[in-house]
Amino acid sequence: MRMVSIRNLESGCVLAKPILGSDGRILLQSGVVLTSGYIRRLQLMNFNYVYIQDSDTYDIQIEETISLEVQQEVVSRIKNIYDSLADPKGNQQLIDSGKLGREFTNIFKTLFQSLMSDHSFIVNLSAIYTSDAYLYTHCMNVGTMASVLGMAAGFNNDRVFKFGLGAMLHDIGKIKVNQGILNKPGKFTEEERAEIEKHCELGYEMLIKQPDIPSVSAHCALQHHEKFDGTGYPRKLRGSEIHEFGRILAIPDVYDALTSNRVYRPAMLPHEAVEYLFAQSGSHFDPEFVRLFLNHINIYPNGTPVQLSNGLYGVVARANSHNLQRPVILALNDNGHKITPYELDLSQELHITIVGRNTEEAPPSAINAHGLGDEMNLA
Ligand SMILES: [Fe+2]
Repeated sequence: MRMVSIRNLESGCVLAKPILGSDGRILLQSGVVLTSGYIRRLQLMNFNYVYIQDSDTYDIQIEETISLEVQQEVVSRIKNIYDSLADPKGNQQLIDSGKLGREFTNIFKTLFQSLMSDHSFIVNLSAIYTSDAYLYTHCMNVGTMASVLGMAAGFNNDRVFKFGLGAMLHDIGKIKVNQGILNKPGKFTEEERAEIEKHCELGYEMLIKQPDIPSVSAHCALQHHEKFDGTGYPRKLRGSEIHEFGRILAIPDVYDALTSNRVYRPAMLPHEAVEYLFAQSGSHFDPEFVRLFLNHINIYPNGTPVQLSNGLYGVVARANSHNLQRPVILALNDNGHKITPYELDLSQELHITIVGRNTEEAPPSAINAHGLGDEMNLA
């Protein structure tokens, strides 16, 4: 399978990974043959790429760190809590009774158990959700990445749990800020920005009162927008004044925001988002943890289209776990001319670099319609 821009999709392409809705349910099942109607709908829903099956890349498989079933369960349970929080009566009851912390701790246990069974210390996240799932998938993805980064940093299980739980809840204070401002597509005014920035303290105040949430986890909400150079908020902490949970958490938080579909802009590809992390290393982010992130978060998931410095175009066939920045590429196209596909291991070919995504991406090859499934509603 391979990732293809929506603009290059043609009727008859076969979807290789399902598309998920905000409640974790499948909107469009893998195996569905895409019609022009589906493709139009996907464009309207702000998707900019999907995974498709084609004959050249049929052997490329995508491994998810968290199985799709667990992801669906976690997203649906997080959504249920947020739905209750949106109801003013339910909101206060959930918070005052301590149920908020208890429910989230139970959800995180599901995620944590799933992560504990994977000893690779490498995160692969490539499930595709609608933009309105962002609130819930962001909690899950950031909780997942933070937990694996904690493991990779040598935290014991108890500390990983506290960090991952805090990471999953880092933005909970957003339920207390003005929702109209929060969902505003354009630029914020000074006043609006000040309103949004309150979410760190509001989240901390909410979490610190929850008997099931450790104090250090609540600090994830308070500190995730502090910046390494002291220009962040709310307290303008600098360097090691920021708890290491906060210094690590800032990285997956920004990365997931950039690589998720949003209502007002399409998702960046993972390696495009990493350019931002590099550019902000030492100013926004602690350079030590940017390195940790790059060694453990697979920014080139299998199937990612890449343009190489030697003019070749291909897709990522598999990762090199010792060097995630230099995966094995299945070359498909040379300077615009289709070639017989062959593999190129970038960990061995150090003179070749990935220079980005090819805007002239080769169209999908003949469809191999193995395993066609039943299509679901794409409402
Ligand atoms: Fe935030």
